[in-house]
Amino acid sequence: MTEIVLITGSGIGIGRATALAFGKSGAHVVVTDVLEDAGHAVVAEIVAAGGSAEFHRLDVRSTEGADAVVAAVEAKHGRIDTIIANAGIAHRVPLPELTDEKWDYTFDIDLKGIYRVVRPALAGMKARKSGSVVALSSIMGIAYGWDEHVHYSAAKAGVVGLVRGLAVELAREGIRVNGVAPGYIRTAQLLSKEHSLGPDADKAGEFIPMGRIGEPEDIADVILFLASNGARYMTGQVVVVDGGLLVGRY
Ligand SMILES: NC(=O)c1ccc[n+]([C@@H]2O[C@H](COP(=O)([O-])OP(=O)(O)OC[C@H]3O[C@@H](n4cnc5c(N)ncnc54)[C@H](O)[C@@H]3O)[C@@H](O)[C@H]2O)c1
Repeated sequence: MTEIVLITGSGIGIGRATALAFGKSGAHVVVTDVLEDAGHAVVAEIVAAGGSAEFHRLDVRSTEGADAVVAAVEAKHGRIDTIIANAGIAHRVPLPELTDEKWDYTFDIDLKGIYRVVRPALAGMKARKSGSVVALSSIMGIAYGWDEHVHYSAAKAGVVGLVRGLAVELAREGIRVNGVAPGYIRTAQLLSKEHSLGPDADKAGEFIPMGRIGEPEDIADVILFLASNGARYMTGQVVVVDGGLLVGRY
């Protein structure tokens, strides 16, 4: 039976690479994003490579939107096997400017946005006693504090708790929940001068033991593994994928 996988924020970056990897693996990929053109382009790329995919606009800040997209996919395909909760933002906000609104905006996408998309899919997964969820955390949430990104670090640390809680509550229902905590990965987010390292991001390779920043595909392949039957006895784990950064001696 073809695996049905829904990926949030999969028009660009890590989400896009993950969508392409699932497409190659033979899954039917439900590409979702607020970026409609980019999302349609990913679908076209998957189909051109011989895979199967469709696009739905989904803003993970919307409960109605998440409920509707999950319902539409289940109505069309009968089920959702896998959810990759990837959508995220990392806005630079120094503490004096960190208002309730800015805090809530990041939490709404990076943390609650994960639960919003998982929640409506649980009934179907429970009925089939089968399902897999992979959520995106960050090394900034599990090990590093990130100055001027306190809300981001807090939300990404929250992802670890969310993954653990969901994993335990859902384990007996046959549903596994894991996470990935990327290090520095070459995406629009990392290359943004305003919000992250900027165009000089490659310099970070000097202090990463493996000597380079990561590529989106480096994360996509680990997500694919965690979602697969190869990880059938893993749940509640957040796997660091950082080229050795956190264990380096600097
Ligand atoms: N790039 C890195 O170095 C890095 C490191 C650690 C964690 N991450 C995490 O990986 C995930 C992907 O990041 P990326 O680097 O590919 O970033 P990116 O900016 O390239 O892509 C983020 C994606 O999320 C989407 N998105 C943003 N707000 C959304 C919303 N409200 N609803 C739906 N989609 C929305 C964007 O449209 C985009 O497609 C994020 O959760 C990010 O925090 C990235």
